[in-house]
Amino acid sequence: MKAPRVTKVTTHVLQEMKLRGEKISMLTTYDFSMARIIDSADIDVILVGDSASNVMAGYKTTLPITLNEMIYHASSVMRAVKRALVVVDLPFGTYQGNSREALNSSIRIMKESNANAVKLEGGSEVIESIDRILSAGIPVMGHLGLTPQSINKFGTYVVRATQDEEADKLFEDAKKLADAGCFAIVLEKIPAALAAKVTETINIPTIGIGAGSKVDGQVLVIHDMLGINQEFSPRFLRRYHNLYEEMKGAVEAYIRDVKSCDFPNEREQY
Ligand code: KIV
Repeated sequence: MKAPRVTKVTTHVLQEMKLRGEKISMLTTYDFSMARIIDSADIDVILVGDSASNVMAGYKTTLPITLNEMIYHASSVMRAVKRALVVVDLPFGTYQGNSREALNSSIRIMKESNANAVKLEGGSEVIESIDRILSAGIPVMGHLGLTPQSINKFGTYVVRATQDEEADKLFEDAKKLADAGCFAIVLEKIPAALAAKVTETINIPTIGIGAGSKVDGQVLVIHDMLGINQEFSPRFLRRYHNLYEEMKGAVEAYIRDVKSCDFPNEREQY
């Protein structure tokens, strides 16, 4: 059942969506112009992901992006967004192992970008940081399964939690994050059956990426789903457009018109 359109999505709205079984739509975005388009299409949640490190800055991993750079992206997005809930990733090295630093990083994001919530990766290892951030009234989204900030520990981006031990830890971590007070959890690249079990068990929304259909919502990286980024084709990705080819074609047409003196024509000059 679809409820009436809300004018501003909050964490409470997401909770209600889980309760009535309405799926949550979420996409990443990192700049003003893209955020304006996505927000006007009525996306529920915008994630200013640290995937900006890959798709905006061209790094191989999410590790290099800094807190200042995340705040720059988040404040650009916030200037465009009217309706969506905006969640910002805490970048690598700004919250792990030191809950005071986690709180300070989160406060900087909230104060300097005006965003609505933060997201961080990990389970029991980061509970102290989550507690401290929540104590300042900042909503926290968790992230379990494939956690790209730990790529140097995992060694690859393959599906996580396929073995019992890792699956059991993920299940326990999801319960801990929910009990701690996270408002939602991203489940990345894990077996669909495990994601379904987590979703049935915890009382906060789960947002899947490569986690099957029996979760409370879905998230994709905007550059991947629009086909801007052509190098990345995991099985879970559905491409809704081939923007790389479309944009390249438009640029080639422009170059042709400039070289042939077709642009500008008489109507396009003063
Ligand atoms: O940074 C990001 O884009 C993410 C999504 C993949 C969930 O964390």
